[in-house]
Amino acid sequence: MNYNQILKEGENFLKKSNIKSPNLDTELILSKIINKKREELLLNSKNKLKNTDLKKFKSYLLRRYHKEPMAYILGYKHFWKHKFLTNKSVLIPRPDTELIVEETLKHLPIDKSKKILDVGTGSGCIVVSLIKERPKCAATAIDISRKALNVAKTNAKLHQVENKIKFINIDIDKYKSSNYDLIISNPPYINSIELNRLDDDIKLHEPKIALSGGFDGFRDIKKVIVVSKKLLKLNGKLIIEIGHKQKNQSVKILNENGYYINKISKDLAGKDRCIISTKL
Ligand SMILES: C[S@@+](CC[C@H](N)C(=O)[O-])C[C@H]1O[C@@H](n2cnc3c(N)ncnc32)[C@H](O)[C@@H]1O
Repeated sequence: MNYNQILKEGENFLKKSNIKSPNLDTELILSKIINKKREELLLNSKNKLKNTDLKKFKSYLLRRYHKEPMAYILGYKHFWKHKFLTNKSVLIPRPDTELIVEETLKHLPIDKSKKILDVGTGSGCIVVSLIKERPKCAATAIDISRKALNVAKTNAKLHQVENKIKFINIDIDKYKSSNYDLIISNPPYINSIELNRLDDDIKLHEPKIALSGGFDGFRDIKKVIVVSKKLLKLNGKLIIEIGHKQKNQSVKILNENGYYINKISKDLAGKDRCIISTKL
């Protein structure tokens, strides 16, 4: 079979499983197998695929048919300005989370060396992006998942910032080191009802520990706010991602814990997504 025939068959197969972009996904999978750019693949559409590659192609396609996200099949996802390795141990970096990076950079002057903590680092996408932009800063990245932390370490190495980030496998509840200028977090914040309504791509494949914020979705938001109060310096900043319906309750918890709200930022869809606050 040549590339053209394979692409047609692949697309039709993915359509049967209601995959949203069957054409693009099939092309990306074939590009990965033959290790060529998509454009080259289309320019050489009459080329034949080796039998071993055809087998590989079919097995990857079957994973997509079963709704496995492309970021896990391809093994990477672009975030901010870089490519991050991803596997099923980590949440796939989301474009909305780039808002944390954008907002945090406004509080990190380029010539200052600030001390940063990333709570629930996952793939390390936020902290690695920040340190790439602000090389004078030093960061600690913690995660309750050892496997996620390993992915974050690999990403830090990939982007040559491993010496500037300390990785610790710990629950935020047990973390005691203090004196941070800035704490960032994208905690799990999906409530148990919404968790069941997520697309199969997410629900069946992304780690539950990275998604579930408990019954009401606030379990980890609350933890991060309460613990950060002890870990931040006076006037230190807490920058946290929230679900788009969680603004009021999050602001209430922040106020109750003595934070001043600086700003609430909206995501690309115009929904409340990120709160910037100061420990008073
Ligand atoms: C929503 S994901 C965010 C991952 C990454 N920061 C991002 O924005 O793509 C939340 C992360 O928090 C971690 N986590 C969950 N509960 C935690 C806890 N109690 N202490 C530390 N990390 C936790 C999960 O393992 C997961 O990696």
